[in-house]
Amino acid sequence: MKKFRDIVRSGEKLQDIADHLLAYIRDRKTVARERLQRRFKLDADELAAALREIGNWGYRLKLSAKDVTFVDAPDLLTATEVGYQLKTRLIGRHIHSYRLVKSTNDLVSQMAESGAPEGSIVTAEQQSQGRGRLGRTWFSPESTGIYVSILLRPHIKPEQAPGLSIMTSLALADTLDPVAPGEVQIKWPNDILIGGKKVCGVLTELSAERHRILHVVVGVGINVNQRAADFPADIKRTATSLRVVTKKKLNRAELLKSFLRNFEREYLDYQKYGLKKSQRRLRKYSSMLGKSVRILSGENVIEGVAVDIDTSGALILYHGGKRIPISAGEVSILKQ
Ligand code: BTN
Repeated sequence: MKKFRDIVRSGEKLQDIADHLLAYIRDRKTVARERLQRRFKLDADELAAALREIGNWGYRLKLSAKDVTFVDAPDLLTATEVGYQLKTRLIGRHIHSYRLVKSTNDLVSQMAESGAPEGSIVTAEQQSQGRGRLGRTWFSPESTGIYVSILLRPHIKPEQAPGLSIMTSLALADTLDPVAPGEVQIKWPNDILIGGKKVCGVLTELSAERHRILHVVVGVGINVNQRAADFPADIKRTATSLRVVTKKKLNRAELLKSFLRNFEREYLDYQKYGLKKSQRRLRKYSSMLGKSVRILSGENVIEGVAVDIDTSGALILYHGGKRIPISAGEVSILKQ
């Protein structure tokens, strides 16, 4: 019986042969073995070895003497799964997927230093030191969440960088809205909430000179298939997952693809128009508008009523008879 690694091809990686073979079968659902052998220049043993390898990756194929039929894909964030029919132009054209990393943001920032192309992404099944904003940690258990970081080299001024987090939250809200229609909210500037509990977080890290952005790493964590009981005590009251909300397990790769497509659209628009085109949706998703809030911005605390979000993404606070734009800070909603 031939082993997959015994298939030798000059200049072509085995992984790539199996990847192409899998995509070919998947696109057509059922394909005759003979046709696969001809198309991929494999003898019968080699084809059988490659199909076994695809099975080892967690794909289910139905094999008969004549045909191969695609049955289903594993719920894994592999480059094969995330890349299949992604159809973006920039974001996710280079996918690096890992089982366990410290933090996907750290990996992408290393890749950025060594010249990786814009739009490269790193996904992980698990993070041992997932990082959140303000030095917090991000709960990153194995194979239940989405942990992804995206490398950007945007043509914008450093002062426009905060808008990248806001456009990311819009892409996330648009991605989750079909999953929990009418329930998704953005807690300004960029936490995504469902039922008042956090379901996604965004950590944007900037590398810049005084007047020029070198690169940006946008890290996104989505709680997808965790059960309520999975969350540790310190975040149990404030965190939720899509599974808890919908009572269904979701396919993480499909969800990630949908996010990457939405992200690409928002990112290209942001570089052209800023947040001008997004203001209507920012208002629609906002969990703040009309509420009395307290904003902690550096050393300063300010209280007022959140009345709007402007075209730069700033929260407009009504305070002392004036409308004050706030461009950064931690918001808490005051009891009415
Ligand atoms: C927050 O505090 O709300 C931001 C959380 C961001 C978590 C994501 S998970 C993928 C990426 N890698 C990290 O270490 N953090 C971000």
